[in-house]
Amino acid sequence: MDNNNTTRKWLKSHHDTLFPFFPFLKKRNIDWLFVRLMERRGEKGALYVHIPFCTGRCTFCILTREYPSETTKYVKSVLKEAKTWSDYFSPVETVYVGGGTPTSLSSEELKLLFDGLGEIFQIERDAEISVETTTSELTEDKMNLLVELGVNRLSVGVQTFNPGLRKVLGRRRGGKEVIKKLNRAREVFPLLTIDVLYDVPGQDKRDVITDLQKAVKIGIDGISLYPLIFGPKTAISRQFEPPPIEIARDIFETAKCFLEDNGYNHVNINHFSNGRDKFRYSSYFNSLGNVLGLGAGATGFMTDCFVKHKSTSEVFV
Ligand SMILES: C[S@@+](CC[C@H](N)C(=O)[O-])C[C@H]1O[C@@H](n2cnc3c(N)ncnc32)[C@H](O)[C@@H]1O
Ligand code: SF4
Repeated sequence: MDNNNTTRKWLKSHHDTLFPFFPFLKKRNIDWLFVRLMERRGEKGALYVHIPFCTGRCTFCILTREYPSETTKYVKSVLKEAKTWSDYFSPVETVYVGGGTPTSLSSEELKLLFDGLGEIFQIERDAEISVETTTSELTEDKMNLLVELGVNRLSVGVQTFNPGLRKVLGRRRGGKEVIKKLNRAREVFPLLTIDVLYDVPGQDKRDVITDLQKAVKIGIDGISLYPLIFGPKTAISRQFEPPPIEIARDIFETAKCFLEDNGYNHVNINHFSNGRDKFRYSSYFNSLGNVLGLGAGATGFMTDCFVKHKSTSEVFV
């Protein structure tokens, strides 16, 4: 079971495919990094901001997240840290705000965050600015606010539209409501992307294709297709075993063919794009470009060094 799960982790995403290298890396003094960054000043970079808050109780979640508390203080701490990097890290070509569920922040906190980042960094006018969200934490007001704040790429964790499978995953709201919200987000955001899971207990290949058909019909620009990782501490892994890797491979191949037949390109490990979604942020990971990670649990990669933050907001603040 362990080997099976390790393979899945390697398949995972732009967030953690590089983690297996950590044990082999040397620790360096942060001043060493600042000197290197100074030498390479002017190089474009990507910014990742982690918002660890989420009110969800998904049975499968392996992300750095906690129930919201002291959220304003947290945002202020992120900005305080950002200021220490501002002389070394500019211009910024792409910003990715991930979580947790970043839209669990209040409108005032989101405004504080984006206005602050805009003041601290030289963010390019045509920067790709992505925010992760989930439909249960995405109101009409928040959608409008995000667009006002410059967000041009919304990434929604859908996982599946299937009502039974949503229950297994502990997702809130039904599939129909998710589709309604996505259709509305489609009207509001220039780029709309979603996450879809396969290898969910009880799910077969047809269920995955049905989910993808729905995504295509809505006109989703980018689809991240992740195999479910059965994290050892998750509720789902106490109840179910991951299916054999051959099944995952078969589902992925079928899904890939389906998406390609419907005009999507396979742009990185598990991301598909209809051509409009350039996903510039992920290209920084592929090319080992400079990525500054801010916030609890955030990972960055700068001048050939990984930088990893402590995982809880309490320690970070
Ligand atoms: C920060 S979440 C997206 C936003 C929001 N919190 C949500 O869940 O809708 C990022 C993505 O990580 C993926 N993820 C979380 N736990 C996972 C697991 N155990 N295996 C595979 N992917 C996982 C999900 O696809 C999720 O959409
Ligand atoms: S909504 Fe997202 S971050 Fe929150 S528990 Fe579910 S998967 Fe995790």
